Amino acid sequence: MKILASDLTVPETYKLLTGVVVPRPIAWISTLSEAGHVNLAPFSCFTFVSSEPPMIGVSIGGGMRGLKDTPGNMRRTGEFVVNIADDSMIQQVHATSFDFPPDVSEAEKFGLATIPSDIVGCPRLRDVPVSMECRFSTAAKFGQGATEFYVGEVVCFHIRDELYQNGKVHTAQLRPICRIAGPNYATLGPIVTQSAPGHWGPPGAQ
Ligand SMILES: Cc1cc2nc3c(=O)[nH]c(=O)nc-3n(C[C@H](O)[C@H](O)[C@H](O)COP(=O)(O)O)c2cc1C
Repeated sequence: MKILASDLTVPETYKLLTGVVVPRPIAWISTLSEAGHVNLAPFSCFTFVSSEPPMIGVSIGGGMRGLKDTPGNMRRTGEFVVNIADDSMIQQVHATSFDFPPDVSEAEKFGLATIPSDIVGCPRLRDVPVSMECRFSTAAKFGQGATEFYVGEVVCFHIRDELYQNGKVHTAQLRPICRIAGPNYATLGPIVTQSAPGHWGPPGAQ
């Protein structure tokens, strides 16, 4: 099968990309609305873009009512928290993706407890294995659509004690959720370990 990108409509292109760029991790982002509600939504176009300082990014498309709540809150408050759920929370993660008005707190609506963050004003989720407090840094637009790539600097990592050893996170015990195309999710399969070539990441990272 050969497909010229120029022959595809935007929805067809989106379907192909979300089926090919898999599995994706999920940033479950909490932000504060103008009225002080904790907004919560999942974003799987998520990666890190720097480790000096730690910076992460998510690609956020246009919403039904214009700008989605999350990027609006990030820009207004300059802060957000990326929470990482485990595979026992797939249902709640999915439920918080539905389009609720800005005055509805998805965290409250779905009974997800929040606690104050240490540095940023936006609360984090209490019962997730990892949260990263972030300061909004920059947003960059790519292509013709409404999508923008939002980048933030991580100022504090919260990692459940039993998952953290010698500066590393125990991936199998983290049990991350893997997003695949559409409303489909997967869990982590077997982990296959190879010898490290010694030149990955910054010096001293191995
Ligand atoms: C698992 C999952 C991953 C998602 N990833 C993205 C994403 O990367 N970018 C995006 O714009 N929307 C993504 N969405 C859709 C948003 O979660 C959805 O538009 C949400 O209503 C945004 O909420 P907000 O308006 O409170 O920011 C995803 C939905 C699900 C279920």
